[in-house]
Amino acid sequence: MGHAEKVNASGEDVLVADWLITGCSQLLTMQGPAPRRGRALAEPGVIRDGALLVRGGRIHAVGSRRRIERLPEARRAEKLDLGGRVALPGFVDSHTHLIFPSSRANEYEQRIGGASYEEIARAGGGIRATVGALRRAPRERLKERALFFLREFAAHGTTTIEAKSGYGLDWKNEIKILEILGELQGEQPVEIVRTFLGAHMTPAEYRRRPEAWVELLVKRLIPHVAEARLAEFCDVFCERGAFTVEQARKILEAGRARGLAPRIHAEQLSRTGGARLAIELGAASADHLDKANAGDIRALAASNVVCTLLPGCSFHLGLAKNAPARRLIAAGAIVALATDFNPGTSPTVSMPMVLAIACTQMRMTPAEAIAAATINAAYSLRMHERVGSLEAGKYADLAAFDVEDYREIPYYFGINLCSMTMKRGKVIHSGKMGGSSGP
Ligand code: NIG
Ligand code: FE
Repeated sequence: MGHAEKVNASGEDVLVADWLITGCSQLLTMQGPAPRRGRALAEPGVIRDGALLVRGGRIHAVGSRRRIERLPEARRAEKLDLGGRVALPGFVDSHTHLIFPSSRANEYEQRIGGASYEEIARAGGGIRATVGALRRAPRERLKERALFFLREFAAHGTTTIEAKSGYGLDWKNEIKILEILGELQGEQPVEIVRTFLGAHMTPAEYRRRPEAWVELLVKRLIPHVAEARLAEFCDVFCERGAFTVEQARKILEAGRARGLAPRIHAEQLSRTGGARLAIELGAASADHLDKANAGDIRALAASNVVCTLLPGCSFHLGLAKNAPARRLIAAGAIVALATDFNPGTSPTVSMPMVLAIACTQMRMTPAEAIAAATINAAYSLRMHERVGSLEAGKYADLAAFDVEDYREIPYYFGINLCSMTMKRGKVIHSGKMGGSSGP
């Protein structure tokens, strides 16, 4: 029995053991300098027959099984044999809208029938429909749903997520969302980083005076969110029908002045100049970028703004055009991948599915896609020193997949082959472990 301690975050007694993890056909370490650009994105740092020694929730040593097994500390550790599976850093999902009250399957069907996302939004559907439903939803219900989806994130290999507000769009409900996210952090193991997205859409009450909503955000909500430490980042949906570049600049500058680092939804359905604004403000991330042009790509590549691509959106919306992933990588931009889990454009928690779409639709290689969904995503959340790679000193956040070759993770699309997920040394999901392995 290894050194063990009790953790009470969930009110339950949970053992965090020291682990000697072996039996990895491939151990993807993602070792090396972060963030990854260009050719470095394609170097997953594979150790064949690799092993990990975990102590006190952190990685104590990583390397070949022969070397790690010989360490004196390994003798006292609990043994975890992955049976020839692939192990990699837990996914870091750097763009989600976790808290929403219900699906919009009705709109999904309307879009299949030919209506566009923007037409549906203009007719009172879209984000505003979800806002109406969220304001009516009991807090407990919102939380139960989020807990369900958090378990599913973990079951698909994700150990850290960013989560945005943005479906409340009034003082009470925006704060409620951020508070629920704070409570969830203490009640389940997936790590949650909060982003204030009061500028997701102008709420219906302010439809005729959008500047008054911007003023309220800048003068009251952002200062309160920052003061009460309810979020670490501030985001704006910079899009035709949502917020202009000028409004986004005001909002993100107000956030930055209070310590909320900027992120931005940019160049998704139309090109507005949001990516250039991200660079001007030194934003942590510019997300979507489906409509980014050649000049944007050059400018992004010369910056430290992470280009967070969300190919689940084009897939779910049935759009032919995807973000220019290959051109961004070739130019040297920092590319990350995330689910954008939300009820309107990307209702999935599955990072393996996002990897599959990224590979076939944007022609990222499996290695590039995995680096984008781990170490580069961690960099965009300013967490790359703690998570996103399997290196000594970092959290023992990892996922094991029921495959022998990491390329099979995106290859087998639409099937969840994640057999074990560990967060800070604690097993938080365990599927089909032991016995015969997968395909
Ligand atoms: O990232 N763009 C803004 N947010 C989501 C869509 C939200 C919704 O339709 O409810 C996105 O695509
Ligand atoms: Fe989004």
